[in-house]
Amino acid sequence: MQSRFITFEGGEGAGKSSNMAFVADWLRARGVEVVCSREPGGTELAEQIRELLLAPAQGEMSDGAELLLIFAARAQHLAEKIQPALAAGSWVLCDRFTDATYAYQGGGRGLSVDKIRRLEQLVQGDLRPDLTLLLDLPVAVGMQRAGKRGDLDRIEQQSLDFFERIRTTYLQRAADAPERIAVVDASCELVAVQQQLQRVLEQRWALWEKEK
Ligand code: TMP
Repeated sequence: MQSRFITFEGGEGAGKSSNMAFVADWLRARGVEVVCSREPGGTELAEQIRELLLAPAQGEMSDGAELLLIFAARAQHLAEKIQPALAAGSWVLCDRFTDATYAYQGGGRGLSVDKIRRLEQLVQGDLRPDLTLLLDLPVAVGMQRAGKRGDLDRIEQQSLDFFERIRTTYLQRAADAPERIAVVDASCELVAVQQQLQRVLEQRWALWEKEK
């Protein structure tokens, strides 16, 4: 089957890593070669940019600088890891991608959608995820889960309002592109989240098999 690019999105504490591991196992069990990655990051240089972006000490970073650093990390990640993996026939699973930029820098920071769209085109060309799994949950529940993981990074330190705008933006994007973005209720127990993921995967798999 043709290689596919699947991304995982959601607010803080949505359980992206455990659910991405579940999807990776599901695909591997069907004989798919899977490469897992994350954003910002995924390569040595992009991980260094991630550290700059998330260090709590970087209090005065401008919104424009934040946006460009995210796309700089993405450009490196695409060139060094994502595109070569897809070209070699692997499927790529990525913990966050450009929907996060629309949600955090667009919805959260208030940067214009048009600016993000132009950078997206410049950095990615026509590459877009084949499927995006949006793990949705109320902000307060996610914050409580994220808070349990210890010190908060620069972005996690933002106000509740900021995260409400992020959730709204994600849900709006899902409503605008239902063929690509599947919304999964991530507020329930992990097993119940995985049952929903499995249903989405089974549907997509059947569709992709027809296209192969
Ligand atoms: P993580 O907590 O999921 O590892 O993501 C790191 C942080 O980076 C998270 O707070 C969201 C933020 N982020 C953006 O603000 N814009 C982006 O485009 C991406 C990929 C992540």
